[in-house]
Amino acid sequence: MKKSTGKVPGLAVVLVGQRKDSQTYVRNKTKACEEAGMKFVITELPDNCTEIQVCNALSSYNENPSIHGILVQLPLPQHLDEGKVLDLLRLEKDVDGFHPLNMGNLAMRGREPLFIPCTPKGCIELLLRSDVKIMGKKAVVIGRSNIVGLPASLLLQRHHATATLVHAFTKNPEQVTREADIVLTAVGVPNLVRGSWLKPGAVVIDVGTYPAEDSNNEHGYRLMGDVCYEEAVNVASAITPVPGGVGPMTIAMLLSNTLESAKRALN
Ligand code: GUN
Repeated sequence: MKKSTGKVPGLAVVLVGQRKDSQTYVRNKTKACEEAGMKFVITELPDNCTEIQVCNALSSYNENPSIHGILVQLPLPQHLDEGKVLDLLRLEKDVDGFHPLNMGNLAMRGREPLFIPCTPKGCIELLLRSDVKIMGKKAVVIGRSNIVGLPASLLLQRHHATATLVHAFTKNPEQVTREADIVLTAVGVPNLVRGSWLKPGAVVIDVGTYPAEDSNNEHGYRLMGDVCYEEAVNVASAITPVPGGVGPMTIAMLLSNTLESAKRALN
C-alpha cells in the first residue's frame, strides 16, 4: 500500500443555468467525488449571467491551490462564448481536456495532451477492458462535437484504428457504419442507429443522451441513446446500454484525471 500524502484532490465545477440534464450530470459528479473522498466545490450561476461572472469564477479556481481540476459544465447558454471561457482555463487544471492546447496535442502525433476528454477516454477504457482489439480495426464515429465525437475519433486513431467521422452532411451514413468493426455514436437523436446500420458482430458504443419527457421518472425525463437497442442487440457482438453504459465511465475518468492532476501538483 502506498503512503498517504494527506493531500486531498479537489474538483471545481461551474454550472450555468437550469438545464435538467446538466444538473443531473453535476449531481452525479458531486456524489462520485464524495464517495471517493475528493473535495468538490461548485459555482452555480443563473441563465442570464455575464461572461465576466463565469470568467471570474474560473480565474479564482485557476489560482486556488486546493483545486486540481476545473470543469465548466457544457453546453453554456447561447449568449456566452464557450471558446472564450474555455481558453481561460489553466491548462494543468483542464481535467475535461477541452482547452484547445490539450485538444491540439491530442490531435498531433508525437505530442501528449495533459488530459484526455473524459467520455472518449471512458469509451476506450471500456473497449480495452472488454478485450476489444482497436488496432487496425475500422471505427466509425457518428457526430463531431468537441465533447465526444471529435476527440473520440482522434483517440481511436491514436489507438491505431482507421477512424471515420460521420456527421449531418455525410451521404448514406448507414453505408459507412455497415463497414465498421466499432461504431461509436454521440448525436442525441433517439433510434438514429438501427440494427440494419450495423455489420454483424460490430461493437457498439452509444454515447447518445437525449432527455425524453417521462412523468413516471423522479426527474421528469429519462435518457435515451442514439441506438435502437432492441434491434442492435441482435446484430452487435457487444453494446453499451443507455443509461448505465458510458455515463458512469465519464465520471470515473473525471475522477481519474483529477487525481492525476493532484499528483502532478505534488511534484
Ligand atoms: N456536457 C456533456 N458532457 C460533458 C462533459 O463530459 N463535460 C462537460 N464539461 N460538460 C459536458
